[in-house]
Order: sequence, then C-alpha cells, then structure tokens
Amino acid sequence: MSTTPADTSPLSLTIVSATGSELPVTSLRDGRFDDLYRLQRCLAEVEKPFYAAFGEDEFVNEEGFRSLVDSGDTLIAIDGQKDDAIDSFVCVAPSVFARYYNAAVADIFIGVDSAQAKAGMFRKWIDIATAHARKLGYVTSLVQTFVTNVGAYNDLREAGYEFCAVLPTSGRLRGVGVTDTVLWRKYVVERNDFDFSVRRVPRDECWYFGSSRPRKPMELPRRYTLKNGTVVEMNNLQSEDVDAYCHLFVEATERGEGYTADETNPELTRHLLQNGNVGTCIFKTVDTSEVVAAGLLLPATFSRTTDPLVCGGAMVVRPDFASTGLGTLLMQVWPEMATSYGFDAVFGETFAKHTAVLHMSIKNGMRLIGCIPGTIKLPTDGWGDTILTYMQFGRYVKASKM
Ligand SMILES: CC(C)(COP(=O)(O)OP(=O)(O)OC[C@H]1O[C@@H](n2cnc3c(N)ncnc32)[C@H](O)[C@@H]1OP(=O)(O)O)[C@@H](O)C(=O)NCCC(=O)NCCS
Repeated sequence: MSTTPADTSPLSLTIVSATGSELPVTSLRDGRFDDLYRLQRCLAEVEKPFYAAFGEDEFVNEEGFRSLVDSGDTLIAIDGQKDDAIDSFVCVAPSVFARYYNAAVADIFIGVDSAQAKAGMFRKWIDIATAHARKLGYVTSLVQTFVTNVGAYNDLREAGYEFCAVLPTSGRLRGVGVTDTVLWRKYVVERNDFDFSVRRVPRDECWYFGSSRPRKPMELPRRYTLKNGTVVEMNNLQSEDVDAYCHLFVEATERGEGYTADETNPELTRHLLQNGNVGTCIFKTVDTSEVVAAGLLLPATFSRTTDPLVCGGAMVVRPDFASTGLGTLLMQVWPEMATSYGFDAVFGETFAKHTAVLHMSIKNGMRLIGCIPGTIKLPTDGWGDTILTYMQFGRYVKASKM
C-alpha cells in the first residue's frame, strides 16, 4: 500500500483580502496565539449572526481554543497595512468525529468576518484549508457551519463538499440563541494513501466543560427483572466497580464491537470519570453482584458551545447477557439520566456495520441525522462509516429565551 506522509515543506501562499490587498499566509507563529484568540472572540461576537464564523460562547474558555490550536495546524493571513494584524485564519485539526486518535479525518475551522465572507474570502480559505488538509496527510476534511449561514452552503458545494449531517442544538449564536449546525465533508486523498504512522492528537476540551443547566438527580438504585429472569440493580458507578466497568468496554472492543481501542483505553476512561463532566450507570446482578452492563454520558464532542446541550451516549452489555433487554433498558433511561446531568438531548455515533445497535436505537426513539464516511479504520475490517443518531427531550428553546 502506498502512503503519503505529511508534507512539512514551507508555505508560499497569499490570499486576496476583501479590500483587494494580497496578504501573505503563514503558519501561526509562537507568540501570536493571543492575537488569534482576540480575533476569534471578535468573530464570535458579531451582531449579524447569519455569517457568524463562531458561536457566541464557542471557545469562551481560552483553554478550549488553545487545545484546538495545539492539536491542529493553523494558517493566518497577515495584514501588513494594519500593523501585521491577523486578518483571517484557518485551523485544520484532527476531527472530533474520528473514532481513533490516529485521525484520517480533519475538522476545518475558518475564521473570516461577515464582510469578508461576502467578498469571497470564505470560499478562498476553503480551498486553502482543503489543500492544507491534503498536505498534512488527512483523507477527509469536515466543515461544520451554523444552519443560519446559508451563504456558506454554496461556497462549500462549489469547493466539492457534500452535505453529510445536521447536528441539532449544537451551538449558540448571538441574537439567535440555540441553533443547529450542518456538517459537510470532502475526500481530500484516496483512503489507501493514509499514513497510519503519523499519530495525531485529538482535541479534548469538550470533556472538561459540561452542562451548567439545572439537574434533576435520578432516584437510585432501581431494580429490573430481565428477560432471562435475572434481577439487576441500576446505580451510579461506585469506585469499587471502576475496573469491572472499564473491562466491559475493553472486552467489547476486543470482540470488534462498537468501539475502537483508543476509545475504550481504561486509562482514558478513568481520566474521564475523574475529570470530565460525565454521567455513569452500571447494572449489577442482585444475587451475585456482577457488573453486567454499563452506560456513559459525556458532553457531545461536536458541540460548538462551552455549555453543551447534547451528550453522547455509550453503552455495553456483557455478552452472556446479550438480548436480555439490558441495551433497551439503557436506551430507555437515557432521557432521564441525561436530564439528571443537565443535558437536553442524546447523540449516538454507531459503526454502520453495527446493525443491532442501529435497530435498537431507532426502535427506542433515536432518529437518523446523518452519516460520516471513513471515520473508522479497524485493523481487520478496513474503513468504516459512522451513522449519527439523535434524541431530544428537553426544552432548550424555552430555556434559551429566559
Ligand atoms: C449493542 C448492545 C448494547 C445491545 O444490548 P442487548 O442487551 O443485547 O440489547 P437488547 O436485549 O435490549 O436487544 C435490543 C434489540 O437488538 C437486538 N439484538 C441484540 N443483539 C443482536 C445481534 N447480535 N444481532 C441482531 N440483533 C440483535 C435484539 O433482538 C433486540 O431487538 P428487538 O427489541 O426487536 O427484540 C450489546 O450487544 C453490546 O454491548 N454490544 C457491544 C458494545 C456496543 O456495541 N455498544 C454500542 C456502541 S454504539
């Protein structure tokens, strides 16, 4: 298999600004992060939301933006006529939709203001960013636009991007409130050209910022009788069960079901449990106190807000308890459990080949919102796609108007 390693040759690029000047494009240099962050905040706070490049509270915590910039590659256009100010930028980073650390998928963030977007600069940056993603060795690039930003749709289509999903309640826009985003994708090279030896570090800021919305604690523990007659107790994860809990996820990965090894790494799970805003539950047999199923909720990584309304759900059932109704039970408690952590909706990312999970999800009220091709590469199974599902049960519109 031929592979294309990341190209590290220097840039020699310019971009024509909205005022017609030719601006040099360079990589972000040390010491310019503060300027870049100031520009990002300005773009997030524009009065006219329709061309907004960023959500009102997107990266309102500087550390989240730093995490994006550190994990990715940022290009800036310098305006020599304005004291070398940063005029506009693009950041190409490992995608939050890639299901493993060695991401073949890039997320592209384009920072231009609304006047520049109208003058065609957004369109020019898409081409530069896409070429840059190719140069860095990515296979696919994704761009997330706010649903209000209809001007961007044409630009993206013209640049060869295809619609792949609508992500509901994923951001807040100044003057609009909670809104949805649209996800676009383009293959930038052949899948077989992906170089797996280049390890890319994912962004992780979303794991640390959880919802600050009101919580309604669930009454726990609860007991259920399964289809095989076993009585199980549902509870929050207790410290003595962390090993058994992590083990269930690792075992599912080893069987090739549902998760990649990066996602179920016990160290990462422990880290999330200790530091993240995550919800957990376990099901234990009442007779023998064995852990037979586990659930995890954490802020959806695609959220473009510091206070995510949507959480991602993960679950696993011990194989000898498969088809006893535990998976369905977990799906049925998602709304209450998510609400107890302050979320309004649950989002699922399922391997397309995992028809049992898709069947169970749709049957229990999740709706299909899109598909992202090429997000998974498992050692034995080749490339795989992710099907996105979603269930909303909160009243975010009312909440955002209060
Ligand atoms: C997916 C999983 C959670 C399902 O749990 P479960 O306890 O078997 O689910 P249930 O008993 O409630 O069954 C749910 C439905 O899926 C069906 N189903 C379960 N396993 C199936 C399989 N291997 N093939 C086909 N259908 C299956 C059941 O028949 C049932 O359908 P029905 O309601 O129409 O009768 C479990 O198999 C698992 O832990 N898998 C590994 C981890 C994983 O994939 N997690 C999800 C990642 S997105």
